Amino acid sequence: MSDFSNEFIQQLNWVRSQMPRTQKAVRQFSALPNARIAVCTHLDIKMIPVFESLLEQGCQLFITTCDPNTVRDDVVSYLVSKGAEADAWKGMPEKAWRESLANAVAWQPDFICEFGGELISLYHQQQGEGLIAAMEGTGSGVVKVRQLDLKAPVLNWDDLDAKEGLHNRHMVGLTAWQAFCQRTHLTLHEKRVTLLGYGLVGQGVAAAAKAYGGSVTVVERDPARKLMAAYDGWNTAELSEVLPHTDVLVTATGAKGVISREHLCQLKAGAFVLNVGHGAGEIKIDELKDDVANEVMPHIFAYQFDGKPVYLLANGAMFNLTAGFGDSLNAFDVTLSIMAGGLHYLLTQGHELPVSLQLLPDAAWKPYLA
Ligand SMILES: NC(=O)c1ccc[n+]([C@@H]2O[C@H](COP(=O)([O-])OP(=O)(O)OC[C@H]3O[C@@H](n4cnc5c(N)ncnc54)[C@H](O)[C@@H]3O)[C@@H](O)[C@H]2O)c1
Repeated sequence: MSDFSNEFIQQLNWVRSQMPRTQKAVRQFSALPNARIAVCTHLDIKMIPVFESLLEQGCQLFITTCDPNTVRDDVVSYLVSKGAEADAWKGMPEKAWRESLANAVAWQPDFICEFGGELISLYHQQQGEGLIAAMEGTGSGVVKVRQLDLKAPVLNWDDLDAKEGLHNRHMVGLTAWQAFCQRTHLTLHEKRVTLLGYGLVGQGVAAAAKAYGGSVTVVERDPARKLMAAYDGWNTAELSEVLPHTDVLVTATGAKGVISREHLCQLKAGAFVLNVGHGAGEIKIDELKDDVANEVMPHIFAYQFDGKPVYLLANGAMFNLTAGFGDSLNAFDVTLSIMAGGLHYLLTQGHELPVSLQLLPDAAWKPYLA
């Protein structure tokens, strides 16, 4: 009898059946070296097909997470049952999380596959030895990797058109507002939505907010992108002028600490705040440690600022995956097939790559999109 619930097995079979590109990409895993791979990603059920296939081909995996909020413990248990080592659980405290990253680096991986650049950065800070090559799949992580004096090649697959242009642009906004609707039982009609950050994620968040009934204002620090938002038809403003009129504030900057307690105090009573950027750090949650929050509905944390309730969704964690299902399976199939193609390239060609941050070549992933 399986150690996993029928519901889990059903979901996993459904995931596999709806991700044909990924299945095609993992079929090439048959001639892999016996490699040690440290993983630091979201640990959602959609990741299983790739990691499971690596294990089946004799690779060793050490699994950590880029975000304790998005970990599914049943996914971790499943991968451990298939032979992975893991140091990740849902809601693990910051200290345990930092230790898990240190443990992954101390495990001396040949390769790193991650979202967020934490392991690659730590490996370089600790002057680690033996890393052959790594791959990074987020904008936030690419920014971190750019600041390193690299000792091993790093493949950037976030900046591929097919990753940024589909996943970032089309999926995040759609799934974030869908989760907003499901969790709050509200649409965005008659609501003024303030969006911080107009990258590809922000562009999709703005378009989907309009589709859900919202009236959107963009706050963007880059003048070129601010202009782009205006040309796309959105209101643009400075954060300080728009906060008191905001019903829903959403962050999509990839930057740390863009919203402080002081900003939250300026919001009107009953405003919602959510983050869809990579890390939980876009909102300065540390500044709220003396404020009492009640989880009035699942994932809706009610704070009182100057006697006004403000609802922080998922307590600032990446909302669409923490409180929702994240990307649709068909869209994530594209993303994951690119990652699988990238892993194959990393493991088979990684030794020969120049030591630099470089875009994953077309030949490694385009065949799976056809
Ligand atoms: N939630 C998800 O499922 C998901 C999926 C993909 C990417 N992401 C994450 O979303 C974030 C954004 O991704 P992107 O590709 O749009 O990045 P991007 O770097 O292209 O865009 C971010 C924008 O935010 C702006 N910005 C930064 N700080 C700001 C501030 N204080 N005020 C106003 N604007 C500010 C920048 O100028 C930039 O235009 C990243 O962290 C990325 O990893 C999340």
